[in-house]
Amino acid sequence: MKKVIVTGGNGFIGSNLVNFLLKKNYFVINIDNNKYVKANYLLKNINRKKYRFYKLDINSSKIFKILIKFKPDAIFNLAAETHVDRSIEAPKDFINSNILGTFNILEQIRNYKKKLKKKIKLIHVSTDEVYGDILGKDKSTENSPYQPSSPYSASKASADHLIKSYARTYGIDAMISNCCNNYGPGQFPEKFIPTLIFNILNNSPLPIYGKGKNTREWIHVEDHCNGLFTIYKKGKNAENYNIGSGNNISNLNLTKLLLKIVNKNKILIGKKVTIKFVKDRPGHDFRYAINSNKIRKKLKWRPAKNFERGLKETFDWYLYNYNFFNYFSKKKFFKRLGLKK
Ligand SMILES: NC(=O)c1ccc[n+]([C@@H]2O[C@H](COP(=O)([O-])OP(=O)(O)OC[C@H]3O[C@@H](n4cnc5c(N)ncnc54)[C@H](O)[C@@H]3O)[C@@H](O)[C@H]2O)c1
Repeated sequence: MKKVIVTGGNGFIGSNLVNFLLKKNYFVINIDNNKYVKANYLLKNINRKKYRFYKLDINSSKIFKILIKFKPDAIFNLAAETHVDRSIEAPKDFINSNILGTFNILEQIRNYKKKLKKKIKLIHVSTDEVYGDILGKDKSTENSPYQPSSPYSASKASADHLIKSYARTYGIDAMISNCCNNYGPGQFPEKFIPTLIFNILNNSPLPIYGKGKNTREWIHVEDHCNGLFTIYKKGKNAENYNIGSGNNISNLNLTKLLLKIVNKNKILIGKKVTIKFVKDRPGHDFRYAINSNKIRKKLKWRPAKNFERGLKETFDWYLYNYNFFNYFSKKKFFKRLGLKK
């Protein structure tokens, strides 16, 4: 049985990836510092025979010992500080986890390769946000310049550059994915779609930054996990792959679509559930859009989930797993962050 490490396996995409890999019969080692959640709601029922969890920061030198112990075939690096508003509030944490943490993983792989002369792949999970604002009808390709706008995207861009340099200089077998916005079960409540759902379920106004015209490309987390697995299986060393769905929608239209889905399913919502425009995020990127032809053509990957169906399933998931929200501190997760002072 092949063994793989998933860092950030207690986060939204990481948990979905752990489940995905376990279903494919991999032995999964999850490394997460559990900074935001004490327990993982999404992994509470998994088969522990093929699973180990280490509560550890990716900056720790113990990662080397874990590599020696399990001799994994690959590391999927998802551990990161991920909330753009939080990066505006407290950028240093993003430098520590996203840049220095990735640097430490690269160094531990380098040490491991030197000591054991064994191959190990790194699949590093980056974001489309590294490309910055894309205006008009353009889409970012893997060759577009990196133009990050927030401390979050700048820290992700730095990590990508470090990885490329390690692939070239030290021959580390590494690939990078640049994925668009994810949605699906288990996303932390500070993010846009879970916030909308939480407020719909709690008869509260739906906060939209600015006038809601900013557009994002949305992909279901299962399609992203499948894309990461495809890169692991078929990707080429030192290459970037954009993972996108082609579903671009403004924040305002997404909110309206979600309300339409809720109404269509005859779910009763309170009178206070109305759209409320709030102060915009400083430096808010207007539009992200990626061209994902490379992974579609070269690796034969494509997304499967229909957006409206995926959104309805996501709403239902939060409705039937409302207890998930209780895993998060009300103080940390339900207040507005990142307004410049
Ligand atoms: N969510 C998206 O839309 C999206 C899109 C593209 C790329 N990504 C990338 O995917 C990855 C996962 O994102 P997510 O949405 O699941 O985020 P998340 O915030 O839900 O999960 C991140 C996890 O990483 C852990 N973590 C953070 N810093 C750590 C550290 N120093 N050591 C160990 N663990 C640490 C956290 O505890 C958390 O469990 C990130 O690298 C993110 O940049 C996310």
